[in-house]
Amino acid sequence: MRISPTGPLTGSLTLPGDKSISHRYAILASLASGASLIHNYSTGADCHSTLNALRALGIEITEQGLDVTVNGKGLDGWRESASPLDCGNSGSAIRMLAGPLSAQPFTSTLIGDESLSGRPMGRIMEPLREMGAHIEARDNRFPPLTITGQTLRPIDYTLPVASAQVKTCVLFAGMYAEGTTIVREPIRSRDHTEIALREFGAQIQTQSRVITLEGRPQLQARELLVPADLSSAAFFLVAATLIPGSDLFLRGVGLNPTRSALLDFLLAAGASLEVVNLEQTNGEMIGDLHVRHAPVQGGIIEGETAAALIDEIPVLAILGAASEHGLTVRDAKELRVKETDRIATVLDNLRRMGIEAEEAPDGMHIPGNQKFRAAHFDSFGDHRIAMAFAVAAMHADGPSEMQGAEAASVSFPTFYSLMAQATAAH
Ligand code: S3P
Repeated sequence: MRISPTGPLTGSLTLPGDKSISHRYAILASLASGASLIHNYSTGADCHSTLNALRALGIEITEQGLDVTVNGKGLDGWRESASPLDCGNSGSAIRMLAGPLSAQPFTSTLIGDESLSGRPMGRIMEPLREMGAHIEARDNRFPPLTITGQTLRPIDYTLPVASAQVKTCVLFAGMYAEGTTIVREPIRSRDHTEIALREFGAQIQTQSRVITLEGRPQLQARELLVPADLSSAAFFLVAATLIPGSDLFLRGVGLNPTRSALLDFLLAAGASLEVVNLEQTNGEMIGDLHVRHAPVQGGIIEGETAAALIDEIPVLAILGAASEHGLTVRDAKELRVKETDRIATVLDNLRRMGIEAEEAPDGMHIPGNQKFRAAHFDSFGDHRIAMAFAVAAMHADGPSEMQGAEAASVSFPTFYSLMAQATAAH
């Protein structure tokens, strides 16, 4: 794909539904009694991997535009799949589905693409085995996973990595254990699962980062609205901040406080950003964002903030290079086990675009005041790398070329067309 420098981003956009929330609503709706109607379900391939896995498990699902109806059959309604469950590129799909599958009276195999097949599964296998699950994996840590359901015991589990996917996996398995499952989080991760479980009628409480779930909940079908994805909005927020003359509204964006560290970071860096029309829907905060071009200073991402911004670091690296003081990222070694090793892939593309940057085992340092040179770069098959560097190319000194631009469709199939819409002269 050829990407040329663009003019300002203007107008008003409604971005597709949140990926994290869509996975959770689909899985919980399949385990509830009755038909749930989910509005604005994510259009990304990842969330469709989850829908297709649920269909293979015997759940009837219909899609009409952005509305998805899931005909839930209760906690024990899943049936053995005739074929392996293909999670595609999605770490969320494989880790979240593994929870309930550990308690089914049948054997399932979860597979994924080349990237997912190299991502660590020990982090879910350990707590699931402690609950009594029977799981086999390639080299005891990589997909495919073969799970033979067992009667599960509740556990009291302290998360060794800050991971909402692992937390979700344990809580979803905990629904099948008689008694109380407890998950302790040393570092807070996104809490969509806790909110969604409560919304579907489970008994769940959170106090000082300790989550307590009662087993065998009777989940009830719901009508739900998925907010627009803040992690997708991040590409538009950064592009509008960088490109002079930009003045853009993003409508109905999910602003859950465990996700909105991005807004705090941008505001602290000097971005011109306003939140308007804040409201709560299905327990999630939603609001409109108004962003305008502004010079920014950059900043440091470390500690808890690194976990809270983990998906946004690739695009913040672009902002950092163009900012006054640059960007330093520490405590983010999780980046190395995402869809690609995002420390390596960000730095590789930055250097191709003439940007100086230093690599660290758990992060990177990018000096500020640098200019993006037009270049030939690669998505490496990673959706967030594709979109982050599309933003860099929009701000470069001439037309660039990206190999593998289609990777964006994993989370955001309409990314390029909405960017074109925002940058078309109005
Ligand atoms: C997600 C959690 C994060 C994030 C991923 C989606 C989720 O991963 O990077 O894109 O929906 O729970 P980890 O929980 O593994 O850090």
